[in-house]
Amino acid sequence: MNPMSELILVKTEGHVGLVTLNRPKVLNALSIELMDELIEALERFDEDDEVRVIVLAGSERAFAAGADIGDMAEASVLDMYRRNNLARWNRIKQVRTPIIAAVSGFCLGGGCELAMTCDMIVASESAQFGQPEINLGIIPGAGGTQRLTKAIGKYRAMEMILAGRFMSASEAYDAGLVTKVVSKEQFLAEAMRLAREIASRPPIAVKIGKEAVLKAQELSLTEGIEFERRVFYSLFATEDQKEGMSAFAEKRKAEFKGK
Ligand code: HXC
Repeated sequence: MNPMSELILVKTEGHVGLVTLNRPKVLNALSIELMDELIEALERFDEDDEVRVIVLAGSERAFAAGADIGDMAEASVLDMYRRNNLARWNRIKQVRTPIIAAVSGFCLGGGCELAMTCDMIVASESAQFGQPEINLGIIPGAGGTQRLTKAIGKYRAMEMILAGRFMSASEAYDAGLVTKVVSKEQFLAEAMRLAREIASRPPIAVKIGKEAVLKAQELSLTEGIEFERRVFYSLFATEDQKEGMSAFAEKRKAEFKGK
């Protein structure tokens, strides 16, 4: 990552890694360069055992208003095919550390897709979720038609994707798209609080729990349950399982080590 660049801001607080999107003038439009830096930062955190949970935040006004339209406006199909920019989004899916999106304001197009690629979404009451690509003559291209449909169901996803309607934070909560809604003063603090809470849990079980939940989106029920059973058994190889169960029996707080 270029240390001079300020397209994103990166820091750690205890076991929590925080990445903040930082293109305020264009509502955090996700340029190709920003996405490269973001993905590298997420991968770096993922390789760092000290980082147990990642928070991905925008600003109060915008999580992100979508892919940078300027990057795409004049592109031909061949340009898009050759650049294959969207392939890099797959790398976010490979990140094993849980990622919490802290969303306020506009969360649109690629921004909404980025939030949905995260594992939890803490939203401010001012958040607006939408897939307005239809107004540009395109459709979502970074998983929106799939993840939004899985999150809120076919009938509401159709309205958002075909009519470009935005959803408020409370609607998104009712529809199952967000984890929780708090005030706009509190959204980042709440995301960090939730991150610290998860970071206090046994890290290997947390990562395996994430993997198992994500399998529910890909596998049949029978395959998913078989996967779950296998990884459940495997956790009995960890010291944290012995520690967690001993601490319960001894009525003390467990000291998890990620081993
Ligand atoms: C580039 C963007 C942008 C974007 C906003 N800006 N969204 N620039 N790409 N996606 C810029 C504006 O051009 C403007 O720059 C500045 O940010 C502030 O935006 P305004 O429009 O002046 O603000 P406002 O009137 O409050 O309206 C906010 C808005 C609107 C409703 C969010 O900006 C908007 O509709 N943006 C586009 C949303 C969108 O269509 N997203 C989908 C993109 S396609 P200047 O220089 O004029 O001040 C996409 C495809 C995904 O995401 C494919 C996979 C990644």
